Amino acid sequence: MKRIAFHDREREIKEIQAILDAEPSLITFVYGPINSGKTALIHHLIEQLPEEYTVFYINLRTKFLSSYDDFIESLFEMEMETDGAKRKRKETLAELVSSATKVAGIPINKEFLDYVFKDNKPKNAFSYIIKLFEEVKATGKQPVLILDELQKIGDVNVNGSLIYELFNFFIDLTKELHLCHVFAVSSDSLFIEQVYSEAMLQGRSRHLLVDDFNEVTTMDFLDSYNFSDKEKTVAWEYCGGNPIYLVELVNCENREEKVKEMLVLRTGEINQRIKVLKIVNKKILFEDEEIELKYENITRILNEFSDEESYAYEIITPEITYLARENILFVDSVRRTIKPQSRMNLLAIRELIEDM
Ligand SMILES: Nc1ncnc2c1ncn2[C@@H]1O[C@H](COP(=O)(O)OP(=O)(O)OP(=O)(O)O)[C@@H](O)[C@H]1O
Ligand SMILES: [Mg+2]
Repeated sequence: MKRIAFHDREREIKEIQAILDAEPSLITFVYGPINSGKTALIHHLIEQLPEEYTVFYINLRTKFLSSYDDFIESLFEMEMETDGAKRKRKETLAELVSSATKVAGIPINKEFLDYVFKDNKPKNAFSYIIKLFEEVKATGKQPVLILDELQKIGDVNVNGSLIYELFNFFIDLTKELHLCHVFAVSSDSLFIEQVYSEAMLQGRSRHLLVDDFNEVTTMDFLDSYNFSDKEKTVAWEYCGGNPIYLVELVNCENREEKVKEMLVLRTGEINQRIKVLKIVNKKILFEDEEIELKYENITRILNEFSDEESYAYEIITPEITYLARENILFVDSVRRTIKPQSRMNLLAIRELIEDM
């Protein structure tokens, strides 16, 4: 297995560095198709950041979130101090931030955790986090909060809107207090659209698209793993600049055979997700209503890609929502365009619409 070095992302890195250089004032959404490299970019940045930043990175992907308490718990990491053989609890906020530079989760101890969970209100958790960040600032460092896979909070049922409370807290951290940089990472742009309308984010957030590599960047990447010209052409034709597919190709023997296999697999999967609608009357939750999906609307949408790679949409329909939720299409709600999640998905769609 070849070790894959982090590749490029110069533009995105510059943009994030400029954000970090300035005083925190807006929430930054990092979004893009699935597997486009958002998390890899964030990890790379965290590694490169100078000491003057204290990063709190929380990835909700691996967290089990079925309640409000689960969500609050997912933010925190219980801290212990190794003191010789016996482990000593950290007692003050200053002790809690003393060792933090690049940490997963927000450090907390038992006493503070009890306070955070008291009354079941996000207010307590948020005021604790603000105090902790102020302590970080007092040591001369700049706190940075990054929440990855943020769409998972959409699954959390609470009285009232957790999304609303959470984003108001983020507005507090950025625009009001200028205390902390906040990055919200997600591949679910329908979620971003929903947050935008529910949480009054107009003028309070910015969006940074992390898309698949463009052609030049892809060719550079393939060159560094000694792809032949033929292999490069095939890789670009089937995988476009999707990092996860490209990485898979680096490590395989017969690359041409591999991409064809990948396409057959993906075409089969998409075929199943779509044709199933002919057999069952599937409903999805759309604007709080259970709406039945219409097969002919699905085919109409997919037909848009017969000779275009993307199109501008006017409104998001239940069928668009379904195709996005199934990770077939990517809805860019900032640019108001729709495209397949990747080049491979585009080719699969084109094969399928031929016999629809
Ligand atoms: N710039 C890069 N250089 C090298 N490899 C990369 C790069 N970006 C992504 N990859 C590789 O591609 C794969 C997918 O990347 P990653 O998990 O970061 O995508 P993502 O956008 O976070 O996906 P998701 O939408 O599921 O959260 C990973 O295995 C990663 O190592
Ligand atoms: Mg990710």
